Amino acid sequence: MYKSFYHLTRNPFDLTPDPTCFVPTVRHNEALAALYYGIRRHKGVVVVTGEVGTGKTLMLRCLLQLFKESSEISYAYLFNCRLSPHEFLHYTAADFGLKVEENTGKSALLLELSRYVTSRGLQGLTTVLVIDEAHNLSMELLEEIRLLSNLETNDDKLLQIVLVGQPELDLKLDSFELRPLKQRIALRAHLTPLDEQDTERYIQERLTIAGDSQRAEPLFAPDAVKAIHQYSRGFPRLINTICENALITGYARQLLTIPQDVILGVARDFHLNTNGSKLARNGQAESDQDLERAKNFFLDLYAATQRGTAPLSQPIPVKAGEHESNI
Ligand SMILES: Nc1ncnc2c1ncn2[C@@H]1O[C@H](COP(=O)(O)OP(=O)(O)OP(=O)(O)O)[C@@H](O)[C@H]1O
Ligand SMILES: [Mg+2]
Repeated sequence: MYKSFYHLTRNPFDLTPDPTCFVPTVRHNEALAALYYGIRRHKGVVVVTGEVGTGKTLMLRCLLQLFKESSEISYAYLFNCRLSPHEFLHYTAADFGLKVEENTGKSALLLELSRYVTSRGLQGLTTVLVIDEAHNLSMELLEEIRLLSNLETNDDKLLQIVLVGQPELDLKLDSFELRPLKQRIALRAHLTPLDEQDTERYIQERLTIAGDSQRAEPLFAPDAVKAIHQYSRGFPRLINTICENALITGYARQLLTIPQDVILGVARDFHLNTNGSKLARNGQAESDQDLERAKNFFLDLYAATQRGTAPLSQPIPVKAGEHESNI
């Protein structure tokens, strides 16, 4: 309803992880770069953690969208981790496109998977197992995953494993029993909430994606944006909820610009407070030179995919002395 009042073509703050709404913030780019770099370089196990609603699933969907365009990458995407080891192996094999029956036994599933992964590896292809909500993995499944990570030749990891989950995943991986899996993690990244500047940019970009064009006054007043950041603490899902509800209120009151008091009202309705807002200003993910290069590369690649000219066969830039053979 409010869309036409605010001259928008779509709902700007939808809560679905839709890649067409992706806003490439510094934090998301760094995490995506780590993922992309680790996978293309066949590093083995890559882990990304982040608090609830920081954009992990959306980030994965963007990555998978890139992979879909590549004939060199095959992936299985698991988003429900509450499975038995047999169900897990069955789902993974089926998602890779292997013909497996419901009653195929565990050893036969493992054999099929290892044949598939090895034969792709020998052809220089990349095979990825992507697991979202990995904090829900049982110890038993994490052990199965460790065993799968053993699929390797003398000089190449054949199965790339991406574990994405809430911070409890870090705790699990730190446990004594999972030492062997922890030692196999080649890259780790952590998604933090947005700072105030990124929050402002995020809101504006999501509005632009929804068709917002030049207007005399910004849709959200500057002090309203400040309040959105404080009450959302920079968590994109909460930013969306606050903004969406503020637009509904704004429409009901026929306000062309959303003032701060509307945000305060929404925050009250949703029982939000500003406790812990320091969190949003802490902890920029560290990035070394490689990640910086991978980030820029990823951004170009992502933009090219959006334009329909994705150069996916293009190799990721390499450091002097590093070989491209396994990319
Ligand atoms: N970089 C971004 N660009 C655009 N929208 C984003 C971005 N990051 C997060 N969002 C939005 O925030 C919301 C939550 O994102 P998402 O579902 O990916 O979070 P999550 O980290 O997977 O949460 P959970 O831990 O609950 O699974 C979604 O509506 C998504 O569209
Ligand atoms: Mg998620």
